[in-house]
Amino acid sequence: MTAPPELVPAGPPHAAVLAELQAACFPDEPWSAVSIAGMVEPPAAFAVIAMEGGEPAGFVMVRTAGEDGEILAIGVLDHARGRGTGRRLVDAAVAGAMRRGATAVFLEVAEDNAAARALYSRAGFVPVGRRPGYYRRRDGRVAALVLRFPSPPMEPPAGR
Ligand SMILES: CC(C)(COP(=O)(O)OP(=O)(O)OC[C@H]1O[C@@H](n2cnc3c(N)ncnc32)[C@H](O)[C@@H]1OP(=O)(O)O)[C@@H](O)C(=O)NCCC(=O)NCCS
Repeated sequence: MTAPPELVPAGPPHAAVLAELQAACFPDEPWSAVSIAGMVEPPAAFAVIAMEGGEPAGFVMVRTAGEDGEILAIGVLDHARGRGTGRRLVDAAVAGAMRRGATAVFLEVAEDNAAARALYSRAGFVPVGRRPGYYRRRDGRVAALVLRFPSPPMEPPAGR
């Protein structure tokens, strides 16, 4: 049985490792270590790296602005998927954003990304918006869903 991953807080000094993980998980969308260093600058932003057997196996990058948190990117290396690491990273992202003052956490996910949509749905995120044609694909474009955690409070019925 594989031991659960160790979650390690990360920031600008880990930008090169985060860039490698990002490029492995998103081959069509590599980000430079320099831009990643700027994205995870404390105190408003942070990253978490999941270590398995002493090796980086997944990551999440988060930023906060006032009461809003945003998951900028999350990924788990192919060989480490399907064992709960993604869920642990989402939970760490939400907890870290809330510790920094966020009351809600948002993210964008491609409508055709079934694995990520399942992960976020299990973690309690709900759709609050849709951006048609947001992501480019080799054969066209696909919408982004905007998800929020927790589910927004119910509006009172109109006219009351
Ligand atoms: C999305 C991703 C991070 C999931 O990581 P993971 O470690 O495999 O996820 P987990 O094992 O924690 O699974 C979490 C839940 O999602 C579900 N899930 C994960 N992959 C799935 C798949 N391919 N199909 C259906 N459900 C899936 C799991 O069943 C699990 O639900 P459960 O708790 O009921 O069992 C991973 O597939 C990945 O890195 N994909 C490429 C990068 C990406 O798309 N990132 C998200 C961009 S918004």
